[in-house]
Amino acid sequence: MCGIVGAVAERNVTPILIEGLKRLEYRGYDSAGVALIDERDGLHRCRRAGKVSELQAALAAAPLAGRLGIAHTRWATHGAPTEANAHPHFSGHELAVVHNGIIENHEALREQLKAKGYVFTSQTDTEVIVHLLAEKLKGTGDLAAALKQAVKELHGAYGLAVISTRQPDRLLAARSGSPLVIGLGLGENFLASDQLALRQVTDRFVYLEEGDIAEIQRDRLTIWDVDGQSVEREQVQYHEGAEAADKGAYRHFMLKEIFEQPDVVQRTLEGRLANDHVLVQAFGPQAAELFARVRNVQIVACGTSYHAGMVARYWLEDLAGIPCQIEVASEFRYRKVVVQPGTLFVSISQSGETADTLAALRNARADGGYLASLALCNVGTSSLVRESDLTLLTQAGPEIGVASTKAFTTQLVGLLLLTLALGQVRGKLDNALRIELVEELRRLPARLGEALAMDRTIEKISELFAEKHHTLFLGRGAQYPVAMEGALKLKEISYIHAEAYPAGELKHGPLALVDADMPVVTVAPNNELLEKLKSNLQEVRARGGELIVFADEQAGLENGEGTHVVNMPHIHDILAPILYTLPLQLLSYHVAVLRGTDVDQPRNLAKSVTVE
Ligand code: AGP
Repeated sequence: MCGIVGAVAERNVTPILIEGLKRLEYRGYDSAGVALIDERDGLHRCRRAGKVSELQAALAAAPLAGRLGIAHTRWATHGAPTEANAHPHFSGHELAVVHNGIIENHEALREQLKAKGYVFTSQTDTEVIVHLLAEKLKGTGDLAAALKQAVKELHGAYGLAVISTRQPDRLLAARSGSPLVIGLGLGENFLASDQLALRQVTDRFVYLEEGDIAEIQRDRLTIWDVDGQSVEREQVQYHEGAEAADKGAYRHFMLKEIFEQPDVVQRTLEGRLANDHVLVQAFGPQAAELFARVRNVQIVACGTSYHAGMVARYWLEDLAGIPCQIEVASEFRYRKVVVQPGTLFVSISQSGETADTLAALRNARADGGYLASLALCNVGTSSLVRESDLTLLTQAGPEIGVASTKAFTTQLVGLLLLTLALGQVRGKLDNALRIELVEELRRLPARLGEALAMDRTIEKISELFAEKHHTLFLGRGAQYPVAMEGALKLKEISYIHAEAYPAGELKHGPLALVDADMPVVTVAPNNELLEKLKSNLQEVRARGGELIVFADEQAGLENGEGTHVVNMPHIHDILAPILYTLPLQLLSYHVAVLRGTDVDQPRNLAKSVTVE
């Protein structure tokens, strides 16, 4: 994922820009660059393919200094990760731009600008922005006015930072679909795609909203909203407790990470949605061409990541009409697999270093029969990412608790984006449904917040489990893997034996276990399987089993003797697996706390299983 840093100050800003880029390295990137305006010598840049350390070495050999500058780490989408494609991009020697996101109409704009005499030196979509701005600047002479005109012609997603020798006292920014934050200093101001990049210079931030354009000077900040009206945006003071490796006000990392889910889901969506569709290029430069050839998907993962893949199988077959197989990596890697023509190999991993998943990927590549490999991963620098053809990075941030929580929900979001992208490219996804789902995805962070607000209710319910030794988790359809994930969470951190079943399987065996000592946890969204699920719940009650049901508020399920119903906000059935995961995480957490286990580091388990 790309990163942006910018600064305007009275001192040389090069060290600030480089430190900012280093702080963004964890997001994953493949080239880096910086551009500075020196009042005497004008605009200069230094770019390198590879790591920020290589950029630093180049700057040590040939230093650049200036009081106004922008910098970037690039994750290639259009054009290979070369120096020529690295940002900042220039128009002449007066204008420089860095860009996060994807410009969908770049080909048409490129032709128009070429016809006007602009010469392109890269294969990127970003270069059209800088020449378009140059064209607008000819007319207005003012950078902010030119930017306001230019963004009207851009389709897709962008976070932009712009500098020009014409107005060497200001840094311009524009946000649409890709986040930007302004850092406020004393007599100096900063810009970044993530406040983490600026933590070394300030603790005061202003977050830009969708459609905002900002003009940042040393001692002045002006923001215009999407309608061009001048607006004030709230100033936020950063508190130490918000540090990723710090529990802050939370008792455990796991709880902190559960509560981060609205934010990290939002981040995972950023830069990947256009108005009414998914930006296919977010999966890599060759994604559109490759996706058109996908006939089958093979998913491989372990543990929680495997459960995410299981949900994706329902989505891929239902929404994109693509056959999908899924297998745990430890089995997949040791058997002879018959590969169907046109199969996309998808590996899912929070860490990207899980030995079995990595071995499965290597086997798949060695087999040579797969169309391509795609890694869905939370660590941009991991082996899995480096060895795959395509990548979608989740933006969960560091996950410290051994029990995976925010990594799972961001994986689900990534897998739904993949499903929609494949459905779009293959023309299998109904337009109205696609538009509806994109809207629902935008609303998802707020819905997750509503689910987290039920924490107290769930804490009370957890008391039912404190003395129990066994539990059952039930779900149907795409909620079956959610039940599996709920059972895994409970056994991992509370050491209570938990098993998950598709509810329809109850009477084929597990019903024999049900009695008053075996709580049965069920997830019950309001879908076409609800009535069947209700019958399964009757089967449990008839045997004296105690039911804990997380049910859609419109499902018509009520509290009663031995039945505890927690009402969930109504949500589109496709997104229900993401929402219904949260109460199960909270339940496990509170049960573990009651039982006094080591929540963040459960016995016998490691965060990243890098050995067989
Ligand atoms: C889940 O809570 C566990 N931490 C575990 O199952 C984990 O998901 C599994 O080891 C896979 O890890 P990965 O996603 O880093 O590959």
